[in-house]
Amino acid sequence: MLNKIAQKIEIIKAEEKDIPIILGFSDIFLRRDWIINKGYLLSNLKNGIILLAFFNDKIVGIGICKNKTLYLLYVHPKFRSRKIGSKLLQKLKPETIRARTNQTTGNPVPYYERLGYKISIPHDPKNRNICIMQKELA
Ligand SMILES: CC(C)(COP(=O)(O)OP(=O)(O)OC[C@H]1O[C@@H](n2cnc3c(N)ncnc32)[C@H](O)[C@@H]1OP(=O)(O)O)[C@@H](O)C(=O)NCCC(=O)NCCS
Repeated sequence: MLNKIAQKIEIIKAEEKDIPIILGFSDIFLRRDWIINKGYLLSNLKNGIILLAFFNDKIVGIGICKNKTLYLLYVHPKFRSRKIGSKLLQKLKPETIRARTNQTTGNPVPYYERLGYKISIPHDPKNRNICIMQKELA
């Protein structure tokens, strides 16, 4: 079952036409931790990259990266542990991660450590709840 779902996951690069569905997803799952509005999405579509994971035409994950820095990674709670998060990361290839340590869903730092990122600045001076992580050089 896990593998069947993983095989049917499709990852696409978001376009402006996808903004309403991203906002719908954000209203349900992201509003406690992230402020996402149309302006934020338009700016990231223009200057960065937004990837979406779909299962049967339903959005189940999102990753936002700008200037090789990951700002947001989120997977629908029912679709976790199917490598959607790691696939989004593999495609976005961020060198730096700004991990929010005070999220209602817990601290994601150990997740990124497992994927080869290392803490470079434990607390961003501008926001102590952001931990800055960097890809370890091979
Ligand atoms: C973190 C997140 C994106 C991972 O997505 P995912 O698709 O479930 O990840 P993967 O399938 O690639 O990896 C799952 C593995 O990571 C582990 N994992 C997930 N979150 C973790 C955390 N905070 N700390 C340590 N391990 C974690 C899972 O237990 C699972 O382990 P397993 O493979 O041994 O079963 C997802 O859990 C999520 O959306 N969390 C809430 C939002 C969040 O924290 N985002 C990061 C923002 S900076």
